[in-house]
Amino acid sequence: MKLWHGADYNYEQWLDRPEVLNQDFAAMKAANCNVMTVGVFSWANYEPREGEFHFEWMDTLLDRLHRQGMKAILATPSGARPAWLSTAYPEVLRVDVLGHRAHHSGRHNHCRTSPIYREKAAQLNDRLAERYGNHPALALWHVSNEYNGGSCYCGPCLTAFRSWLQERYKTLEVLNQKWWTTFWSHRFSSWDEIYPDDSSVNGMMLDWARFTSEQTIDFYRAETAPLRRRTPQVPITTNFHGPHVGLDYFAFAKEVDVVSWDNYPTWHTQESDTITAVKTAFLHDLYRSMKGKSFLMMESTPSQTNWQGISPLKRPGMHKLASIQAIAHGSNSVQYFQWRQSRGGEEKFHGAVLSHQSSMNTRTFQDVVQVGHELQNLDSVYEAAVESEVALVTDFENKWAIDLAQLPQSTDKRYEEELQLPYEVLWKRGISTDIVDTRPRDWGRFKLILAPMLYLVREDLADQWKPWVEQGGTLVLTYLSGYVDDNDLCFEGGAPGPLSSLAGLRVEETDALSPQMVQSFHYRGNRFPARHYADLILPTAECETVAVYDHEFYSGRPVLTCRKLGKGSVWYLATRSDSAFWSAFLADRCADAGVAPAVPWPIPEGVSVRRRGNTIFVMNFHPHEVAFSIGSGGEVIKLSGYGFQVLQAP
Ligand code: GLA
Ligand code: ZN
Repeated sequence: MKLWHGADYNYEQWLDRPEVLNQDFAAMKAANCNVMTVGVFSWANYEPREGEFHFEWMDTLLDRLHRQGMKAILATPSGARPAWLSTAYPEVLRVDVLGHRAHHSGRHNHCRTSPIYREKAAQLNDRLAERYGNHPALALWHVSNEYNGGSCYCGPCLTAFRSWLQERYKTLEVLNQKWWTTFWSHRFSSWDEIYPDDSSVNGMMLDWARFTSEQTIDFYRAETAPLRRRTPQVPITTNFHGPHVGLDYFAFAKEVDVVSWDNYPTWHTQESDTITAVKTAFLHDLYRSMKGKSFLMMESTPSQTNWQGISPLKRPGMHKLASIQAIAHGSNSVQYFQWRQSRGGEEKFHGAVLSHQSSMNTRTFQDVVQVGHELQNLDSVYEAAVESEVALVTDFENKWAIDLAQLPQSTDKRYEEELQLPYEVLWKRGISTDIVDTRPRDWGRFKLILAPMLYLVREDLADQWKPWVEQGGTLVLTYLSGYVDDNDLCFEGGAPGPLSSLAGLRVEETDALSPQMVQSFHYRGNRFPARHYADLILPTAECETVAVYDHEFYSGRPVLTCRKLGKGSVWYLATRSDSAFWSAFLADRCADAGVAPAVPWPIPEGVSVRRRGNTIFVMNFHPHEVAFSIGSGGEVIKLSGYGFQVLQAP
């Protein structure tokens, strides 16, 4: 079996219980597991006292996995540290914005600048690499766990931030200019005056977010240096999550050999499972697109979580379906958190392959067994790529800048929802989408680019897109685009800034609509809502007005425009509409651009169709059975509630 199936295995919690460990290994075999993630939170086991190392237990574990024909994803343990480390070196603990240092507690909360933490982590990693680099079970390094961009305001972090700024701006004069600090008399006369806790200086806070992300990536580099040195043959990942955890994952992804992420959809809550499926699909596509190749689903719960407030059980079928969904979107693994429930601690009630009952005769265990069977039959997708002709554009920096901005319409910013709206339409039509950032890339792979609410625009973006449009690409832009540059400074000449030359228009003013003030416009004879934002635009002569506002003093002014550029076109939507609009609009744009769905037959609501290589996955996210005909031959496909089928492309 080529695809990976396994779990986070906290072997070290049961070292005094050989019968439990024996059962674990028997159950792994029964569930067709071929890999375990080990050592994630094991620092205190490796080094119970400073400088005193114990690896025998990990030796035994890796040997045993190997004997059973399994692989190990070996973690570095920096996600949580032993108490002696915090006690001996309090500088490893984060300092909050008011200058208070945290106590030793929890996890994922160390200072990323602290030289001593870097040294201690690198030292241990070096020993791990030396000891296990050639172990036949070692398949992948799992560096730390779920890094986040949480702030630390300790002395070394502030010093590092100020050096980072000096590197970026060279002089205070330039910094003051780029941060527009004359506003409210915020000019800095010394680097030491800079303290990144002032939301009124947008440029500073955006830089602080960038710095925090970069400092985390830098910590990762320090952690991985010994692994790269000693084991250049072993690939490295770190598990992403979120995705909005204060890290620029597109930048981070360049540093890992394979992208992996932790997937915890909130199935069976107030939102429909179809919507949850769309959101989950979006994230799979996002993480796949970061490297443009298959990724790993590093964690998922085999049953329920324990952190949602209300964490329902997965309904029959859902576990297999959600696992298959990951594979369909490009994952090469189905991994769980966690293999066995712990008896104590915060996660003792989190779902696990083996619960406190410690039985293989549970519904969850049988679900896991079935996933193992499914994966066995899917070797053919292992090397297969997911191809997308559509790109949906998003930048983490764009999100940060939107969050920071005090706009005329701040109540309903809804950036993520606005990305999801067109995504959902494409999902329903069985059209695969890559989710990419605006850094230079080969845009030529795409036929259609959707870039909603691209508020922050890097200077080079219009130059990247212009030749692509001229050669026949279709670009869709919306309101709230092209407001600020890299430094969060508004473009002189107003929105959409550098995108103006592409769209062939300028934004004169933008009306902010309260939630009950729903306006409208007509597109191809149908009426659609206009909400929250309404740009009053000034089109140039080359820009064609396709639809106009129906209401207000700007009734009759353009709300949707199209500018032909070479063989392609640039569309601009001046307001926020709904999924019915996006559905009608994208049907036309896909047709113009020649974007094809995965299958020629109509897909019923709540059903997702994905193609990976020659394999077609048809998945039903309804709890009830769905039957529909595929092809003109009258062939009918029947999917049980939360059921799926795997077909081969003709
Ligand atoms: C995260 C962590 C795991 C565990 C799970 C629980 O993804 O990486 O260690 O805490 O959440 O859902
Ligand atoms: Zn710090």
